[in-house]
Amino acid sequence: MAGGGQTWQKDAADQNFDYMFKLLIIGNSSVGKTSFLFRYADDSFTSAFVSTVGIDFKVKTVFRQDKRVKLQIWDTAGQERYRTITTAYYRGAMGFILMYDVTNEESFSSVHDWCTQIKTYSWDNAQVILVGNKCDMEDERVISYERGKHLADSLGLEFFETSAKENINVRAVFERLVDMICDKMSESLDADPGLGAKGTRLTDSAQPSGVNCNC
Ligand code: GTP
Ligand code: MG
Repeated sequence: MAGGGQTWQKDAADQNFDYMFKLLIIGNSSVGKTSFLFRYADDSFTSAFVSTVGIDFKVKTVFRQDKRVKLQIWDTAGQERYRTITTAYYRGAMGFILMYDVTNEESFSSVHDWCTQIKTYSWDNAQVILVGNKCDMEDERVISYERGKHLADSLGLEFFETSAKENINVRAVFERLVDMICDKMSESLDADPGLGAKGTRLTDSAQPSGVNCNC
């Protein structure tokens, strides 16, 4: 189960990291969420499509801004029938990768709905990046870079086009998301200096101060 309550605290049992961030990858079925995660975590890609059942996760530790950050990355099923299960994991997520497929108009039209899901089920201050995946498929592209960027701007989101297949911008998306979360966390620690040394949060609070929960 998702350990949303522990995401901001330093895990006493494992001193090998400074922070643990819980991230979610969401979007319609077949946009490439699982492929994106496998490319990032294992540097592998397969063209076979095995639709995710429910939810799965991988862990990866990265160094950002002098901190060792353990990423718990949840890969959700895009299929509608798993929606009740997957939205249960939104709570406590600090970052979302909201993905569509540049060759699939319907997946692009669904971005608004996915945003509504984030607003409904996650923290107000969760960081979100919009990702247009499969940018290697130029011949079958139906969503231009400009349309994607325009939508991202209108929703106030950062934007990347990626390819899990050709390994384009995959790491860049995760690095940017981690930086956005680190920045947000510094802001909330600055706003509440009583928490102790900057960058070390040892409380059991389920969420950072300054973050409004709309659950
Ligand atoms: P659900 O688990 O059903 O929600 O789908 P998903 O979003 O996890 O999709 P998945 O990663 O399983 O990929 C679907 C299909 O798209 C697979 O056949 C992948 O090989 C293919 N695919 C994923 N990413 C890319 C990409 O960047 N380029 C190309 N050309 N194909 C991709
Ligand atoms: Mg999948």
